Amino acid sequence: MAEAIPDLRNVPKGRAYAELKGHSDAILAGVDDDLTAMATIVALVHHAFGHLWTGFYRVVVPGQLLRVGPYQGSLGCLDIVFGRGVCGTAAAEMKTVIVPDIEKFPGHIACDARSRSEIVVPVLDRRGDLIAVFDVDSDRLDAFKSEDQQGLERLVSWFATTKK
Ligand code: SME
Repeated sequence: MAEAIPDLRNVPKGRAYAELKGHSDAILAGVDDDLTAMATIVALVHHAFGHLWTGFYRVVVPGQLLRVGPYQGSLGCLDIVFGRGVCGTAAAEMKTVIVPDIEKFPGHIACDARSRSEIVVPVLDRRGDLIAVFDVDSDRLDAFKSEDQQGLERLVSWFATTKK
C-alpha cells in the first residue's frame, strides 16, 4: 500500500472531508482493529489540514477517565477526568464541543500554549457506548465550524459501523 496523505488546506471543507473519508475507508478496508483505525485517522486529519494537535483520548474507566491514545503533535497530557476541559466535557455530555477561543472556555486544559481553538468529537462503538473522544487543536482562532463537526463525526463513524 502506498497511500499518500493529500494536502487539503486550500480545498473547501465539504470536499476535503469527503476525500479524507474515501482515503480512510480505502486504507481501513478489512481492518477490524480500533487502535489501527485511530492511528490512521489521526495521521490523515493531522497532515491533510496541518493542524497543531490531533489525537484520540480513550475511555479507560467508563464515565470517569480518559487516557491519551494515538496522536500527532506536541506531547499531550496523559489522563483527563470526565467533565474536565474540552475533552472531558465532550465525553461527559457525549456530544461534539467546538471552542472558537480556548481562552473563553473555563477549565480548558492547555497542553500546547500555541493552541487557540479546538473541536472534540465523541467516538461511539456499535452499541452506542462511548469508547473515546477525537480532539483537534488549531493555532488559529475560530478554526472549526459545523462542516468540521460533520466531517470529523463522519470519519469516526468508522468505529460504530465496522463489524468487530
Ligand atoms: N485542550 C484539551 C486537552 C487535550 S490537549 O489539548 C492535547 C482539553 O481541554 O480537553
